[in-house]
Amino acid sequence: MSDKDISSTLIENRQFPPAKEFTASARLKPADLKALHKHAADDYEGFWAEQARTQLHWKKPFSQILDSSRAPHYQWFNDGEMNVSYNCIDRHLDKHADKTAIIFEGEKGDVRQISYQELHDEVCQFANSLKASGIKKGDRVVIYMPMTPEAVIAMQACARIGAIHSVVFGGFSAESLRDRINDAGAVMLITADGGHRGGKIVELKAASDKAMNAGCPSIQHVLVLKRTGHDISMQDGRDIWWHDLVNDQATQCEPEWVNAEHPLFLLYTSGSTGKPKGIQHSSAGYLLNAVLTNLWVFDLQDEDTFWCTADVGWITGHTYVAYGPLAACSTIVIYEGAPTVPDYGRFWKICEDHKVSVFYTAPTAIRALMKMGDDFPNKYDLSSLRLLGTVGEPINPEAWMWYHKVIGKERCPIVDTWWQTETGAHMISPIPGAISTKPGSCTIPLPGIIADVVNDDGESITEANKGGYLVIKKPFPSMLRTVWGDDQRYIDTYFSKFGGKYYLAGDSARKDDDGYFWIMGRIDDVINVSGHRLGTMEVESALVAHPRVAEAAVVSRPHEVKGEAIVAFVICNGERPVGAEAVAMVKELREWVGEQIGAIARPDDIRFAEGLPKTRSGKIMRRLLRTIAHGEEITQDISTLENEGVVLQLQGKA
Ligand code: PRX
Repeated sequence: MSDKDISSTLIENRQFPPAKEFTASARLKPADLKALHKHAADDYEGFWAEQARTQLHWKKPFSQILDSSRAPHYQWFNDGEMNVSYNCIDRHLDKHADKTAIIFEGEKGDVRQISYQELHDEVCQFANSLKASGIKKGDRVVIYMPMTPEAVIAMQACARIGAIHSVVFGGFSAESLRDRINDAGAVMLITADGGHRGGKIVELKAASDKAMNAGCPSIQHVLVLKRTGHDISMQDGRDIWWHDLVNDQATQCEPEWVNAEHPLFLLYTSGSTGKPKGIQHSSAGYLLNAVLTNLWVFDLQDEDTFWCTADVGWITGHTYVAYGPLAACSTIVIYEGAPTVPDYGRFWKICEDHKVSVFYTAPTAIRALMKMGDDFPNKYDLSSLRLLGTVGEPINPEAWMWYHKVIGKERCPIVDTWWQTETGAHMISPIPGAISTKPGSCTIPLPGIIADVVNDDGESITEANKGGYLVIKKPFPSMLRTVWGDDQRYIDTYFSKFGGKYYLAGDSARKDDDGYFWIMGRIDDVINVSGHRLGTMEVESALVAHPRVAEAAVVSRPHEVKGEAIVAFVICNGERPVGAEAVAMVKELREWVGEQIGAIARPDDIRFAEGLPKTRSGKIMRRLLRTIAHGEEITQDISTLENEGVVLQLQGKA
């Protein structure tokens, strides 16, 4: 990409200053924010050190702040010792043992409340169970669970004993699960008999068995939570019921005091090439930005009830469900199921029933619910809401305005938070009591986050609204530490573009006259489906793994609800399928990709041709494929194509 290629078509001029009443009781008022920015600008390391000392409990205080000696493998606070689970739970018990930590609602309507004391006891019992099963500090544990409190308990228990968890989203297939287990070299898998979603049972144990049968040689035990109670098979010696293991365990478990840099978790995410990357996060640095952003951006206060709708299988469910809000001693809502059960009012009913005050979801969910009209939200009392947030992809101004008017009743600020799996926590976002918002912009970087938009040579773009590469110019505590088992890929992906100087986010962006950031999309071949990243390569590999497929190329096209939809151009072995055969083949390939990766990766559109458009040097013309997928007129010069005739086939015209 060159910055010349990026032109901005979206100019949005509306501004929404924070309401006076909101600012009056907000944690950060404009003057506080100014002071934080000034501190970070005057003394970058001192700023972070002060935050780390005041926001985290240290067993052994740190004396070093940022260590750049192994750059870009930066380390933070690395002679300090702490424990993430202690910081999320134990330190609140003095004053808040009875405070509700988790309000859980199952899809069928079952509700359970867990106090901080109860959470402590359950986490300790499960941590003791893990130890009794032989799990030690540094072991990798894969968690493949429904969205229940036990998923959070499992994560917290791993953190408590220094085991490194890797949560795999329950919507991923057995193959994806197996690949992640093997890449991480996990010794344990924690799963459930199933989960409830969309009125059906998600067969997590069956998928786990399939993964095991396909080969997960490092796994010694599979722990199984009973959630649905339906029949599943248990393998003697390998599989153990959660309740059998936990029953006799003590409700005390001394935390393992780990080095600040000890890996807390791996989370796999898609890149443009090759297999998913195991993004490795640290303990202290990660938790620091997690807790700070819950306080700064979500303004969490003692009486708040915070609901982040993300699954723990994604980074959002780590930082804004399982760790950050607990470290901030907040009350969180966890909902197991789909937003559409029993109808499109479920989210709003949950907000009313549990008096949710801070609500955080993805633009794709907002658009889907917006499509169903205002009657659903209008049926419920949403007066408890005081702050709304979005994450995962650019939000279109129309959806922003609907969220603002119909959900927030024009009272609630909206925080559009830009960040990534790799950054661990919000990077660019409004501070709700201090920053005016503009629909579609994530506004300005948070204190201590030195984000910028630069050109191909790494120079700051000073011209307003001119697009370029989004970079972060200084290391920050919660940044990824490496790609698990692949330091070179870490360097190549995030640091090589600008000679190791800047962290390359992989997004393009522009800054407007006020210095507000507007995210314009990805610069690599990554598709953002419903706020989740998928590498085009991954979908292509899944397609060519099908015996009938010789070649495949995958691009995206805009989608009204999902943000982007996947379009696959497929070349089959033998005759090109047409008519009924093509229809059957499309169905088969969609199911196949669902099996290989997960339902989220199923192409919306599959087209067959006798060849892919290639240049004479053999490169697939991806830009041409995108034009075709968007249904736009072809303006590129296709006379250099090796095989011009296929273009009509790919357009569906031949
Ligand atoms: O392209 C950006 C988009 O999502 C990518 C990160 O995806 P992932 O690691 O899966 O994390 C999603 C949740 C943090 C980014 O590179 N993205 C995320 N938030 C926004 C966004 N694009 C525009 N606006 C946002 N608020």
